[in-house]
Amino acid sequence: MPKALVVYYSLEGNTRFIAENIAAEIGADIFELKTKKQLPGGFLKYIIGGFQAVSKKTPEILPIEKKLEDYEMVFIGTPVWAGKYAPAVRTFIKTFNLEGKNVAIFCCHGDSKERALSLPASDLGKCKIAGRIDFQQPLDHGKDAAAKEVRQWAKKMV
Ligand SMILES: Cc1cc2nc3c(=O)[nH]c(=O)nc-3n(C[C@H](O)[C@H](O)[C@H](O)COP(=O)(O)O)c2cc1C
Repeated sequence: MPKALVVYYSLEGNTRFIAENIAAEIGADIFELKTKKQLPGGFLKYIIGGFQAVSKKTPEILPIEKKLEDYEMVFIGTPVWAGKYAPAVRTFIKTFNLEGKNVAIFCCHGDSKERALSLPASDLGKCKIAGRIDFQQPLDHGKDAAAKEVRQWAKKMV
């Protein structure tokens, strides 16, 4: 099995839940991206987070304690923000060279499924996209079914 890393950002735990299931199923390493500056709570998080996502901001993130060159396969997980991927994930893919890696993308979203798989291959450089999957807020819409589905998918990806 290729050595795999699951790297993700999660504000409210949904993407973390999916990431942890992937890592547990295939024995991958896991790393959570965190921004240096936190978003405010309440409704403001939608305004500021949505603005950051749409305007392609790359906020500073805390140091990544994994060496990407150690991995052949990278799972990247993000919540959908204003139809885009989370700014911390943008920082990650701009900072780390994914060339030659197999990349699998997972995301969590609210109602707008049609915009869910919005991390375009063109933003990822010269990697190979192994697959994609998305979930509608798994913590609220059937955790067990989502866990089962993502575990099956993860096995297929490696
Ligand atoms: C700033 C912000 C913007 C969002 N924009 C969208 C959106 O455009 N479409 C959507 O379906 N859900 C949107 N959501 C909902 C999240 O994608 C959804 O709740 C997701 O499951 C959160 O993942 P997390 O718990 O890992 O943070 C948004 C949430 C936030 C905080």
